[in-house]
Amino acid sequence: MTNLLVTGGCGFIGSNYVRMVLEREPETRVINLDALTYAGNPANLKDCETNPHYRMVVGDIADRSAVEKVFAENKPDEVVHFAAESHVDRSILDSSPFIRTNVQGTQVLLDVSRACGVKRYVQVSTDEVYGSLGDTGFFTEETPLAPNSPYAASKAASDLLVRAYVHTHKFPAIITRCSNNYGPYQFPEKLIPLFISNLQADQPVPVYGDGMQVRDWIHVLDHCRGIHAALRGGKPGGVYNFGGRCEKANIDLTKTLLGLLGKPESLIRYVADRPGHDRRYAIDCDYAERELGWRPATRFEEGLRATVEWYRQNRAWVEEIKSGAYRQYYQAQYGHRGL
Ligand code: NAD
Ligand code: TYD
Repeated sequence: MTNLLVTGGCGFIGSNYVRMVLEREPETRVINLDALTYAGNPANLKDCETNPHYRMVVGDIADRSAVEKVFAENKPDEVVHFAAESHVDRSILDSSPFIRTNVQGTQVLLDVSRACGVKRYVQVSTDEVYGSLGDTGFFTEETPLAPNSPYAASKAASDLLVRAYVHTHKFPAIITRCSNNYGPYQFPEKLIPLFISNLQADQPVPVYGDGMQVRDWIHVLDHCRGIHAALRGGKPGGVYNFGGRCEKANIDLTKTLLGLLGKPESLIRYVADRPGHDRRYAIDCDYAERELGWRPATRFEEGLRATVEWYRQNRAWVEEIKSGAYRQYYQAQYGHRGL
């Protein structure tokens, strides 16, 4: 039996990852350490709660004694670190929680993982650490880090700490950097779920600036498979980029969503641009494909259609977030109001 500690398992990507591992590996015990911030929703893993190989622990990764206790009680062999503040717009309004969780939290997790002899550790990072591309070119693992938002800077800082622990302490960590994810359970503050839920309610959708910013979209389960391949087959000290080979301008994506939901273009509202808005992200994932035998498998048109359908069938999930009722759910369930 392998003990796998996942941080941030109640968020978007973490919950998809936990479910995938529990389905694929009956011999793995998953411990989910999550502070239940606004972005953490244990209802995302409601279907896993009765699985005897799944355990949820409410705790803050920046709280060293809490993290030490979780390690002492659960003896993880492996760690996959998702927990983070993840929304660029929030980091522009206040970067403090980003430094605390993304930088200090990673430091604590590295220290405790090292002290407890963790055998493999994956730092789940983002392509945003590379900054912005012009009209051509791709990010590779060799692209210098040049983060532009406080969110990206906090992720780059945590990546550099991981790199230093690998170099100085020979700590067996791997860094993965992925492009924009979409799929079920994404918090409705990010573009795709925000726009779907607004359109379902015939509300306008706010397109920042001229809408010509480009993102490289990948289905969340393709990302999760990549992370797991890196955990099990990646080289300690290695960096692996994942992307969907699927570049879309925001305005084109918006129009595709309008089409899928049968809504008129009059619902588009061009609003003030995000300060410091990165123009284009695009990942070259050749190295991960070669080294890990991984590739993005979901065709965007199919993945997006299925995602719209998921949000259609799970309107109550969105409504509970919008009304704040989801926070009462976990208070009742876990006796904790979250960070
Ligand atoms: P999310 O915001 O949906 O979830 C974050 C989770 O971390 C939540 O469950 C939250 O409660 C938890 N958390 C926050 N602070 C914590 C703390 N101090 N202690 C313990 N738990 C805490 O994020 P996501 O979109 O699922 O992203 C997960 C990871 O993947 C992040 O590290 C992010 O940088 C990275 N990433 C995201 C994307 C994307 O498109 N969403 C792309 C590439 C990389
Ligand atoms: P987002 O989902 O916040 O991801 P990221 O900033 O990490 O790429 O945003 C995706 C793109 O959509 C980004 O270029 C900003 C833009 N955007 C809007 O135009 N309107 C919105 O309301 C949001 C949330 C994002």
